[in-house]
Amino acid sequence: MKQSEPRIRKAARVLGDTISFRDATTADAEFILSLRTDAGKSRFLSATDNDVGAQRAWLERYAASEDQAYFIIEFNGDPIGTVRLYDAQGGSFCWGSWILKDGRPRQAAMESALMIYAYAIDYLGFNACHFDVRKGNAGVIKFHERFGAQIVEETDLDFLFKLRLEAINESRRRYHEFLSGSVIVEDGK
Ligand SMILES: CC(C)(COP(=O)(O)OP(=O)(O)OC[C@H]1O[C@@H](n2cnc3c(N)ncnc32)[C@H](O)[C@@H]1OP(=O)(O)O)[C@@H](O)C(=O)NCCC(=O)NCCS
Repeated sequence: MKQSEPRIRKAARVLGDTISFRDATTADAEFILSLRTDAGKSRFLSATDNDVGAQRAWLERYAASEDQAYFIIEFNGDPIGTVRLYDAQGGSFCWGSWILKDGRPRQAAMESALMIYAYAIDYLGFNACHFDVRKGNAGVIKFHERFGAQIVEETDLDFLFKLRLEAINESRRRYHEFLSGSVIVEDGK
């Protein structure tokens, strides 16, 4: 019998070693907009209108959706960024909308990436992931390649990457210092 396919679910909170994720709400519209309209940060992201009403409406639609999880990344109780899981395709999930504000702690990028993998694999049951990165986003391309991501396709604008379970597991072991075990999930939905 075919096993049912994993599904992306929201969670109230996902706890890592030093940072945590919290489900995004309409109250986060201003913070998200400040990141997404920052010229430096948004260079390689899809464009966002500088309209807080539209951002709130987007977050209302997000709250009603059942196929994605949009998190505010927090450190010591303060928001420092965003990350999102979406577009499940069989056993593979996509992640992106990944932004960290200036002044983030140094471990935030590594720990948040490892937390995404721990949540999607240990908790949701995925066994691979895919994502696209703008061709000019050299730092982020390098970041993912160090995790074992491979380019499987390209468009004029983007490289499409895949990361297999073996590579994810190997990176989770290798980068143990940034996330010592799995994540703790509070109020998964
Ligand atoms: C994408 C983003 C969240 C990554 O965060 P970041 O903090 O810039 O990530 P970095 O690659 O600089 O890594 C942070 C630290 O971890 C270290 N690091 C990265 N990969 C590492 C690895 N494999 N092993 C050990 N350390 C590593 C880096 O050296 C860096 O340390 P440093 O501050 O001492 O130099 C951030 O750059 C951002 O907000 N970008 C704009 C939005 C964007 O383009 N998002 C991606 C869309 S696909």
